[in-house]
Amino acid sequence: MQEISQEIQSESENQQQIVRQKELFGTVVNRMHSHCLKYDAISIFFPEYQNPEEVSCNWVGDMDFNVCPFITEGIQKRIKTNNIYGYPGLLIKYEPFLNSLISWCRRRHSYEVQPQQINITQNTLQTISTLYRLKCKKNECIIIQTPIYYKIIDQATMIGRKVVPNPLIFQNGLYFINFELLEEQLADPNNKIMVFCNPLNPSGRVWTYQEVKRVAELCLKYNVFLISDEIFADLTLPGFQHTIAGSISDQVNLNTATIFTPSKAFNLSGLSISTVVIPNKDLHKQFTQKNNSQGFYYANIFGQIAYENAYSLQGESWLNDLVDYIVKNYEFMQMLLKKQYPDIEILQMQAGYLTILDFSKTNLPYQEIKQILVNSNVLLEDLSEFFYPKQNSQLFRINIACPQVKLKECLEKVVHGFKSYFQN
Ligand SMILES: Cc1ncc(COP(=O)(O)O)c(C=O)c1O
Repeated sequence: MQEISQEIQSESENQQQIVRQKELFGTVVNRMHSHCLKYDAISIFFPEYQNPEEVSCNWVGDMDFNVCPFITEGIQKRIKTNNIYGYPGLLIKYEPFLNSLISWCRRRHSYEVQPQQINITQNTLQTISTLYRLKCKKNECIIIQTPIYYKIIDQATMIGRKVVPNPLIFQNGLYFINFELLEEQLADPNNKIMVFCNPLNPSGRVWTYQEVKRVAELCLKYNVFLISDEIFADLTLPGFQHTIAGSISDQVNLNTATIFTPSKAFNLSGLSISTVVIPNKDLHKQFTQKNNSQGFYYANIFGQIAYENAYSLQGESWLNDLVDYIVKNYEFMQMLLKKQYPDIEILQMQAGYLTILDFSKTNLPYQEIKQILVNSNVLLEDLSEFFYPKQNSQLFRINIACPQVKLKECLEKVVHGFKSYFQN
């Protein structure tokens, strides 16, 4: 009897969850002409797409969902109660802001952060660029695992730092680290920094505890500074465990800068706020000075409010629903492609919402695949720039953070495009 009533209760909870998630993530929002890169910049960056309104936009790392309602409430409250937008307070002294990150890291990642270790920036690339300048002189080198979000590479070359690629090994739909090569590279005294992207963009690989430990300890051994980009960590999918690099040991922590921000998990890139944990006191000070020297003292008021509300209990509950919805989208994509076009394979996604479609079984060259996607009005990001040097491949990154109807539309266009190509 008790078992039956428990079953009924969990069935009704499931139903409530489905309704709630449909409300939160199932609504299609027209983002055209909203000052957004994803839709409004198609004609600038991708002129080959002649009708931007008809394009399935599954490229840049930006989600098509309305933001967490608690964030909207926070911003609306500020507008209603105080409509003055003069200089914001100096963030570094603002306790509620710092505490939101500290308690989030403790609660979700068992990682202890001290307020004096936190630095604020406008975005992750600003953080990365500042660290490159501080820890690596011109003509010294930065080890970067590839494929990786290409601007992490560009940021180094743009300021005259050399990139030493550490290509990941692609095996059975997953990336692995070539530790032998990595150790050789770390042992070279001209290599001053290693960038570690965990979870990895592209693909969403979550490095295991053992992998993180080995990377972090090797960096320590060879005195190479570790930049750990963990901006997708909060989107780790059930069944996988994210490990914060700095949590490995106190010595590792001192040799690491961990980039942590709600901008990916809560889609806040447009509000220009990001954080980095730098436990090394001297480096922390230098980092602040460097940012100040470039005129950066204050962070956007709405960004601060959004940040605090994201890293709250209400934000956490929304995030749990989001992750669940992304899992459902991923499973839906697997099912659809398996049924309708099994030659397009999907990499295993362990975190985030940016996975990879592998077109190699179609035996078509990169240019041909790209052309079919253009003809189908589907915008995916090809991975050529994610390698160093650039290399054409049959792998394309797909963003699945959109209402399921839009994902379905995108995948059906892809399937139709390839079927028609082979029929003609
Ligand atoms: C792994 C990774 N790092 C950094 C960035 C850049 O982030 P931001 O826009 O905060 O500079 C991105 C953007 O997608 C990313 O995927």
